[in-house]
Amino acid sequence: MSNPIIIPASKPQNQVVASPTTSSNLHDRMTARRDSTVNTKVREAKVLHPVENEHLKLLLLENISQEAVKAFQAHGFHVDHHTKAMSEDELVSKIGQYHAVGIRSKTKITERVIKAAPKLLVIGCFCIGVNQVDLETAAKAGIPVFNSPFSNSRSVAELVISEVIALSRQYFQRAFEMRQGIWNKQSKGCWEVRGKTLGIVGYGHIGSQLSVLAEALGMRVLFHDVINIMPLGSARQVESLTALLNESDFVTLHVPEVPETTYMISKEQLSEMKKGAYLINNARGKVVDIPALVDALKSGHLAGAALDVYPSEPGANGSPFDDQLNSWASTLRSIPNVILTPHIGGSTEEAQRMIGEEVSSALTRYLNYGSTMGAVNFPEVDLRAITAEQQGIRVCHVHNNIPGVLRQVNEVLSPYNVEKQYSDSKGDVAYLMADITDVSTSDVNKLRELISKTSANILTRLLV
Ligand SMILES: NC(=O)c1ccc[n+]([C@@H]2O[C@H](COP(=O)([O-])OP(=O)(O)OC[C@H]3O[C@@H](n4cnc5c(N)ncnc54)[C@H](O)[C@@H]3O)[C@@H](O)[C@H]2O)c1
Repeated sequence: MSNPIIIPASKPQNQVVASPTTSSNLHDRMTARRDSTVNTKVREAKVLHPVENEHLKLLLLENISQEAVKAFQAHGFHVDHHTKAMSEDELVSKIGQYHAVGIRSKTKITERVIKAAPKLLVIGCFCIGVNQVDLETAAKAGIPVFNSPFSNSRSVAELVISEVIALSRQYFQRAFEMRQGIWNKQSKGCWEVRGKTLGIVGYGHIGSQLSVLAEALGMRVLFHDVINIMPLGSARQVESLTALLNESDFVTLHVPEVPETTYMISKEQLSEMKKGAYLINNARGKVVDIPALVDALKSGHLAGAALDVYPSEPGANGSPFDDQLNSWASTLRSIPNVILTPHIGGSTEEAQRMIGEEVSSALTRYLNYGSTMGAVNFPEVDLRAITAEQQGIRVCHVHNNIPGVLRQVNEVLSPYNVEKQYSDSKGDVAYLMADITDVSTSDVNKLRELISKTSANILTRLLV
């Protein structure tokens, strides 16, 4: 991780100011500007280390990217990298020696595993979901959990663009026929996407990316969202889902799966769509009532659909996608101009690499600087950097969220100069960060011991 730099507000002493009379051409002015920045002094952030001298050990499972391994090693962490997941029993026998663990979706971090991990400081889920981790038990043990929810937004947006064109030209159908040895050249019911209207439901990370890509193709973009959002480009927010459904040639869904979005596209909403329109769902399987969609496709009201997500999805590659899993599966598979993909929206090499970078940098920021920004189960707390010339130490104190804690901790800190301090809570757990100066080396351990002994203490770490 590169260290943030703080640029002083005052003008640097040695700045060269280009005079309009002596530097009249662009080249001279650029040279003068470059020279003025070369010697600009910046205040570098201090690299912090835990006061415990023990070498930090990381366990990475499920073939987490080599970029992540290299990033951890560059910070001096010892990394044990395994290609496979570990069972609960295996984890219980091994996790005791590790300070951090990185997993994907197959490894389960249960209460039993957490109880067998006295040194564990942080958990990284190198994926989107976090339901493989007992988040509450982890938080109560003072362990923040990080994931990477948005690294694959671009990959999903690009898949949707490909589906818009594929549906409009019926080319999955044509390619399928060719594979069966059937030549079927036709233009009836095939359209360019230029000038057509794309209706985006949910204008978040994916929806807004998609908006930009669709406009580049000459599409008109409408969106509907529960919050008012500044449109990108020439996109327009419409007031209701009905207005969007009435006007759009393509409707694409990018909302989270919450009670309000469950079956938000059912019989009534499908009937509000334009005749000959297309529906695309890359969000979550339960957002669409699929039997109602099957009816709308069979009746010819909709001209096609693309689905990447389903109410029930097979657990492993090679497993059947059949009527036992979803009762309508074989009917859906038999309808022309329906594109079915196995939840691949975010599955690209780029997305995997970004997940590796994002989660490894979140773990490093926590281990080295105490920052919990982006943690899913923990109060999010961060402090601006201690600069290299400051002789400060950072106190990171996880505690039970009960009254009176700050009084106790501040009593311990009172002989020192508290440069900055911030605390926040989430449920039963609270987290305080404080930077203090004027602490002698001999005081550091005493300070840690005193704070660790306060009545609500879960975990106290000092970084110097
Ligand atoms: N197919 C895949 O592989 C894949 C990959 C990544 C994400 N996803 C799914 O895509 C969806 C969107 O992801 P994102 O990263 O853009 O999420 P996001 O949180 O950035 O955006 C979601 C947007 O939906 C809006 N919203 C919520 N409820 C709504 C409602 N009832 N009506 C209209 N808008 C509503 C929110 O205000 C927000 O702007 C999620 O369901 C996510 O799980 C699928």
